[in-house]
Amino acid sequence: MNNAREDGRLRASLWTALVLVLAIAAPALQAAAPTDILNKNACSACHGIDKAIVGPAYQAVAEKYARDPKAKGGLAKRIREGGSGTWGPVPMPPQPNLSDADLATVVDWLLAGAKP
Ligand code: HEC
Repeated sequence: MNNAREDGRLRASLWTALVLVLAIAAPALQAAAPTDILNKNACSACHGIDKAIVGPAYQAVAEKYARDPKAKGGLAKRIREGGSGTWGPVPMPPQPNLSDADLATVVDWLLAGAKP
């Protein structure tokens, strides 16, 4: 039968379920998607996924370094510090505001083929 104590117990288990769902979902919400990072940091103003804008297409970058085991550190440094001469004379501006975690996410995404 439905009484106050049962209601209380039901409410408590609903709260427990809600807390569990949030605990599981939170880490997934924290890890930003690579394309969100690129949009948020204005990278997308100069780079397209599959077309060059001011800088090379991400997929062209992915292709260039696909078989280069040393690419990871080099790409991270280049994104952080900017520079020119790899793709042409136009310089890439340095990116001091990109967090280390976001930088690592972008480099991993590039080296995994820059899939949209
Ligand atoms: C103002 C335009 C501009 C912005 C904004 C910009 N880039 Fe670039 N990016 C360039 C240009 C130009 C190059 C080519 C530099 C060269 O030839 O060496 C480049 C090169 C690159 C490369 C290839 C580096 C290499 O060593 O081959 C990567 C990866 C890259 N950018 C990622 C990013 C990311 C990630 C962001 C945002 C955090 C970003 N870019 C923002 C213009 C830009």
